[in-house]
Amino acid sequence: MNTPISISYTSDKSKEPAKNFADKHKLALNPISENKTSLILNYTEEFVELRDTEKNIAIHIDFLSGDLAHRQQFGGGRGQSIAKAIGLKQGVTAPSVLDATAGLAKDAFVLACLGCPLTLLERSPIVTELIRDAVKRAEDDEHFQSIIKTGFDVKEENSIKYLTQLSSNENATLPDVIYLDPMYPERKKSASVKKNMQLLQSLLGKDEDTQALLDIAIKVARKRVVVKRPKGAENLSALNPTYHVASKKTRYDIYIIPQ
Ligand SMILES: C[S@@+](CC[C@H](N)C(=O)[O-])C[C@H]1O[C@@H](n2cnc3c(N)ncnc32)[C@H](O)[C@@H]1O
Repeated sequence: MNTPISISYTSDKSKEPAKNFADKHKLALNPISENKTSLILNYTEEFVELRDTEKNIAIHIDFLSGDLAHRQQFGGGRGQSIAKAIGLKQGVTAPSVLDATAGLAKDAFVLACLGCPLTLLERSPIVTELIRDAVKRAEDDEHFQSIIKTGFDVKEENSIKYLTQLSSNENATLPDVIYLDPMYPERKKSASVKKNMQLLQSLLGKDEDTQALLDIAIKVARKRVVVKRPKGAENLSALNPTYHVASKKTRYDIYIIPQ
């Protein structure tokens, strides 16, 4: 982790889960009014949030309302660039996807809405806790249940290690698609970096091992590896993608696995 973080809670009711997490990860625990670091994982009675108390910005994940629900309702289905990138076509069964850089699970949720069985890997325990909290709050909702019925399996794992183990297990079921969206270095005009990304960047910094992740992903994926990049960014590695799908702000580099 880059910036130091501690655990906070807003009431007696939210103290217990906060304490469990703090004990497990050996992090300081304080009521929100006495927090000791500017960055906190804060347990409220409604949700768990990542908060920067100095900048006064906070994020939590919500699968039932806000941006994600809106995208699910009006997002354009199989016509979206991300759907094309993972190879979804009319009349074709949705591929299984392993999202090896789950983050705030936005892309994973969009892919689940498209019918893909999902495995989400996230190495930061803090970020994994945000995803698990959002799943827990949504899991009794019928609509959410219908979206994730083919699978939405969240694991706190380093993907390089996980994929290396998968590659040496002859009996493992391998994912059709591996999806990568590593942290992109902060741009000069940091005001243009969205609030969510600013917070993640101060917590995690830049992902330094993306080349190794792409290499092992290409060994493990059955059909393709998809790498999400900001438009105009350099390729993730010297290996050229087979082709790319571009949208307004994003480029998806596609590495097709020869059959
Ligand atoms: C830019 S964010 C992903 C955002 C995500 N696509 C979304 O829609 O919210 C990148 C995330 O990948 C995670 N990550 C990077 N390398 C990883 C690895 N080797 N194993 C597991 N997680 C990794 C980082 O901790 C970070 O949370």
